[in-house]
Amino acid sequence: MSTQRETWSARSGFILAAVGSAVGLGNIWRFPYVAYENGGGAFFIPYLIALATAGFPLLFLDYVIGQKYKGAPPTAYRRMVKSSESIGWWHVAVCMAVGIFYGSVLSWAGSYMVFAFSQAWGSDPKDFFLNGFLHHSSEITLNFAPNLFTALIVVWALMFLIMFGGIKKGIELANKICIPLLVLMFGAMVARAVSLSGASMGIEAFFTPNWALMADPKVWLAAYGHIFFSMSIGFGIMVTYASYLNKNANLTGSGLVVGFANSSFELLAGIGIFSAIGFMAHTQGVGIKDVAAGGPGLAFMVFPKIISTMGEAGTIVGVLFFGSLFVAGVTSLASILQVPISACQDKFGWSKNKSVLIVSGFSAVVSIGLFSTNNALTFVDIIDHFTLNIGVVAGAIALLVWVTWVHRDILPKLTTHINHISSFKLGKGWAFMLTLVMPISLIITLGLSLIGLFKDGYEGYPVWLLTVLGGGFILAFALSAMIMPKIKGGQTHELDE
Ligand code: ALA
Repeated sequence: MSTQRETWSARSGFILAAVGSAVGLGNIWRFPYVAYENGGGAFFIPYLIALATAGFPLLFLDYVIGQKYKGAPPTAYRRMVKSSESIGWWHVAVCMAVGIFYGSVLSWAGSYMVFAFSQAWGSDPKDFFLNGFLHHSSEITLNFAPNLFTALIVVWALMFLIMFGGIKKGIELANKICIPLLVLMFGAMVARAVSLSGASMGIEAFFTPNWALMADPKVWLAAYGHIFFSMSIGFGIMVTYASYLNKNANLTGSGLVVGFANSSFELLAGIGIFSAIGFMAHTQGVGIKDVAAGGPGLAFMVFPKIISTMGEAGTIVGVLFFGSLFVAGVTSLASILQVPISACQDKFGWSKNKSVLIVSGFSAVVSIGLFSTNNALTFVDIIDHFTLNIGVVAGAIALLVWVTWVHRDILPKLTTHINHISSFKLGKGWAFMLTLVMPISLIITLGLSLIGLFKDGYEGYPVWLLTVLGGGFILAFALSAMIMPKIKGGQTHELDE
């Protein structure tokens, strides 16, 4: 049985969608606080090393697997080597988990875009964010928060609309609208931020290394975990997007454009946000450290405070900032959801609409259930940490070990294929990264930081909560990997080589 796989309308459509997937909440909301928490300027060194040793090599690997084997991860990996379908289902489950918490942060961004028009956060944005908006409690009480519920409903309704449109009329169209909007809005925001007095102080803090932290394996894991998340690699997104490419796509050329666009955007976001923080410190006559609180609340607590000090101009900067965050997040969430949607279509032979309804419906229900409560911030923090730093990294290790250590004949085949159709040729350097540098450094980093997690916990959260929530998600990935390949599918045809 075979159904025609959708394709992008042109190479530019694919590049736009891949950039739209990569540039997301990760670049604007997550990168600045992760960088700041992990040594500020010192984080750039692990970040750049992770980009070169893992980012680009894995991006090319994802592209070639998706494009050659034409499927979401379980199908594409199985066609590559039969025994690897499990790894694909691990990646699919990771995408489900990421989508579930991503929807929540996206709904905060959307709410703040609306708040920015009236600077609704008032004179104490931290209090507004934690108490007025999230109704946050550090005790797990699961009290219903109607405002969060409404925002989540709007986000998930929008996502349904996009996903029902499919590849060309949904995802590609959304990216054609969102990317130019994002570039304009975010460009204007950063231009305004760097011209503020005190901006240079913030930028300096952002780039000033803290060398001591570089000996900490947690910093390296954060760098690798963030690169994977930010470039949408190692957990199936780029495999899935590349599966809609035609036979002769220039994979490495597109990859270089997408990777550099993503990192440039990330750097720009860091500069913009820390310029604004520098302005704030300058205005109050305090140090950077006293303004920049770390953690997932950085963008939502610090940025409004900065906006408030800008008077009328702040309204424009605020709408631009949260508007960019929202728009960037929508195109990324679409790419995350497309992975399980496509995986179910491949496996069960479901129609697109059926798959969208079931996958997005399930994600929406869990997302709304968990995050329309007064514990949303805690849940985002824990699920983000476990999913990205453990789920994504472990999934990437499994794929690399399987493809380069266990089945050694695969990589030469993939290299021949990618070089045959691409402009920028890959050789021994690529194989060296995938075979040795990446798996070994990832295994060591993950191992050391798991030891740290067992010893010290995470951010002072109770052990039972980390076990149930963080451990629960990891268990779900493992169950998906073990059970899904055993279920008989409706569409198990193999590709004609
Ligand atoms: N790559 C996406 C982001 O950075 C998931 O948000």
